[in-house]
Amino acid sequence: MPIVAPSLLASDFLRLGEESRMLNESAADWFHLDVMDGRFVPNISFGLPVISALRKTTTKTFDVHLMIEEPERFAEDFKKAGADILTVHLEACRHLHRNLQQIRSLGMKAGVALNPHSPVETIFDMLDDIDLVCVMSVNPGFGGQQFLPLALKKIRNLRKHIDDNKLSTLIEIDGGVTLSNAREIVEAGTHVLVAGNTVFGSVDPIATIKALKEC
Ligand code: DX5
Ligand code: ZN
Repeated sequence: MPIVAPSLLASDFLRLGEESRMLNESAADWFHLDVMDGRFVPNISFGLPVISALRKTTTKTFDVHLMIEEPERFAEDFKKAGADILTVHLEACRHLHRNLQQIRSLGMKAGVALNPHSPVETIFDMLDDIDLVCVMSVNPGFGGQQFLPLALKKIRNLRKHIDDNKLSTLIEIDGGVTLSNAREIVEAGTHVLVAGNTVFGSVDPIATIKALKEC
């Protein structure tokens, strides 16, 4: 069974408390929280105060996806706001390894997200220092985009490397996950499914989350 991480980016911000309650009642494992700075990606979402407020509503794991430049400036603040996993973008980090060390030293799990153009092989040598690899299956910045099939090949390749080397790194897929493609994505080797619009845009989000878990 995959770990299912609904992305709150697609939730109703006017009803965040209720959305959180719904997720608490659902089979969702994690809350996926997308932070954007308008520089690394051409969009701005929400930030620290929103995450702190949500933290009071749930004990589920907070999977924070930073789509921001210079993430090292904010790692400590995100820890204080309640992040359990902090994911930074390979393309936003000049000293990625140092950033990961910082995240772990603050007591969080360290994640690396890869844009569609970044080869997974780039991080093969440092997987011991990475708890989660987030393979982007859309260009980051917006919800509701179409899944890019090139991500499947990357997942298969990465999963083989992880298994061959008996590593414990988790693979997450982010972007365009639907009830129709989830099974193929999991079969390719994905451990964590992020889903925004598929969950929050559905008539019955709790049933949709259950269906993703059972895909
Ligand atoms: C995109 C974000 C995603 C987004 C996914 O930049 O990283 O987490 O919310 O949304 P869907 O599932 O609608 O593609
Ligand atoms: Zn995301």
